[in-house]
Amino acid sequence: DFKDKKLLITAGPTREPLDPVRFITNYSSGKMGYALAEKAVQRGAKVTLISGPTNLTPPLGLSKYIAVDTAQEMFQAVMEHFTYADVIIKSAAVADFSPKDIEQNKIKKQDFNMRIELKKNPDILQELGKRKTKQILVGFAAETTEVLENAQNKLKRKNLDFIVMNNLTEEGAGFAVDSNIVKILHKDGRIEELSKMLKKDLANEILDRIYSYML
Ligand code: PMT
Repeated sequence: DFKDKKLLITAGPTREPLDPVRFITNYSSGKMGYALAEKAVQRGAKVTLISGPTNLTPPLGLSKYIAVDTAQEMFQAVMEHFTYADVIIKSAAVADFSPKDIEQNKIKKQDFNMRIELKKNPDILQELGKRKTKQILVGFAAETTEVLENAQNKLKRKNLDFIVMNNLTEEGAGFAVDSNIVKILHKDGRIEELSKMLKKDLANEILDRIYSYML
C-alpha cells in the first residue's frame, strides 16, 4: 500500500562530542526507527533512513542510508532530503544540548569541580513543522512528567499530523527494548491507546495511521 511513496525516517541517538574520547548521548538503540524502516520497505515504500550510531544492521531494500553522529549532522541530512519526501517520521532521540566547546585533546582529570557549558541544538522536527508543505509529519514524545500535556504541546508546537507518545514509566516500553507501549495523539484531538506490542508490530500500526492520512 506504500508503493512508490517516499518516506524519510530518522532513528537512534545522536552523539555530542566533548573531547576526542567522550560524548553525551542517550539510551536510544535505534530499534523503533529501524522497525519502521523495515516495515515501510516491505510495504513498498522508498525509504531514506537517517541514523545516529547504533549496533543494528540497516534493513535490506532501503533507497538510502545516511549515518550521522551529531544533532547538527542529522539536522543537515534531514533538511537536504525532506523536500522529496511524502512522509517524515522522526523516531530519533536527538540530544537537545551539546557541549559549547569541543576540546582538541582529552580533558585531564582535575581536582576542582568541572563544569561543562552546553549550547542548545536545533530542533529538527520543529523546523520541519515550519517548512513542511504537503508532507505528513509524525513525531515521537519521550517524557517522564506531565506526559500527556507535554506531548500535546509538542504535537501543536511542531505542527505534526500525529505524535507517538511512549509510556516510559512501564516495563517493556521506550528505550532499547523490543516492545513499546504508546498512545497516539492526532491533530484533530483523537487519542488512541495501544496495548503493549513488539516495535515491529507497532511500526505497522503507525504506518496504518499514516496510510489513512494519505487517502
Ligand atoms: O531507539 P529505541 O531504543 O528503539 O527507542 C525508541 C525511542 C524511545 C527513542 C522512540 O520511540 C522515541 O520516543 N523517539 C523520540 C525520542 C525523543 O527525542 O523525544 P522528545 O520528546 O525529546 O522529542 C520529541 C520529538 O522531537 C521527537 O520526534 C524527536 O525526534 C524530535 N526532536 C527532538 C529534539 C531535537 N533537537 N530535534 C528533534 O527533531
